[in-house]
Amino acid sequence: MNHERLAGLLKCPICGSDIEYRSRVFSYCCHGKVLHTFRVKGHIPDFVKDEGEKHQEKVDRAFNRIAGRKYDKIVTGATSFDRFKLRLMWGTTKYIPLLFEMMESVTSDCEPGFFLDIPVGTGVFTAGEYSLQTSFEFIAADYNMEMLASAEIKVRASDYGNVMLVRADVANLPFVNSAFSGILTMNGLGAFPDKAKAMDELTRVLKPGGKIAGALYVRRERLLTDLVFSRAAIWKRRLIKPIYTEKQLLEELEKREIENIVTRKVKSIMFFSGRKKPGTGAIPVGNSLPALD
Ligand SMILES: C[S@@+](CC[C@H](N)C(=O)[O-])C[C@H]1O[C@@H](n2cnc3c(N)ncnc32)[C@H](O)[C@@H]1O
Repeated sequence: MNHERLAGLLKCPICGSDIEYRSRVFSYCCHGKVLHTFRVKGHIPDFVKDEGEKHQEKVDRAFNRIAGRKYDKIVTGATSFDRFKLRLMWGTTKYIPLLFEMMESVTSDCEPGFFLDIPVGTGVFTAGEYSLQTSFEFIAADYNMEMLASAEIKVRASDYGNVMLVRADVANLPFVNSAFSGILTMNGLGAFPDKAKAMDELTRVLKPGGKIAGALYVRRERLLTDLVFSRAAIWKRRLIKPIYTEKQLLEELEKREIENIVTRKVKSIMFFSGRKKPGTGAIPVGNSLPALD
């Protein structure tokens, strides 16, 4: 995957016009009346311009504090003490192998093409899978540069190949409508400050008939998690309200014409997948930018 190929998928997140990659200046530039440019930082194109939204800044700071190996260690339960903490928090660690298997199970049920992994975070659960799924080209996106830098180390280990790391805001994605045949949003919906816009955008960039899948913490499945641990995570800004119940999430997906929804819960961690109704265009339910392509 290279910059030129990525440019074919892009629309300007500010004005909605086409984007091209200009190798001389290591930047992506839009074709709008006002020129918007997006720099490549290291190897990572940065499509976030409008920083400063209060909640997003706090979330970003929270993930800056744990980005890298610290995050990987916590979420995978690397030591027996980490696993003890996860068991206290979620009542089980049985969901961890499912997170590692998720990318493979989603891609196995998707048309070959472009696949969006957002938020990729440090890539701990998904980066190892990219090079094995040769019929896909992966866009691995996240808001947080530190998390992306950690994902880059893992991706670079397999020589980039069919992957492009991108800094993007899920609530204002720099992609044209129906760009992706599949989308994975793992442990993201809890952290996204504007969940309605995020879901509008995810369904906008998904092809009709394309598959969307994810994993998230849902309320009202385990009292201790709801009363103690989710409150602590909200306080630390790793989770942002509203936290959906299973029913609320299903309603949000159905509103956006996601059908054939399948769910599985491991205590309060819910896995879901569904397909965008064939023959539907973008269906923004909230107030996200209309797509111009
Ligand atoms: C709990 S981590 C999940 C990462 C990875 N999917 C995993 O399961 O390890 C949540 C991620 O959401 C990202 N995030 C928060 N707000 C975002 C936004 N508006 N757009 C894109 N990513 C965002 C954070 O930077 C963080 O990396």
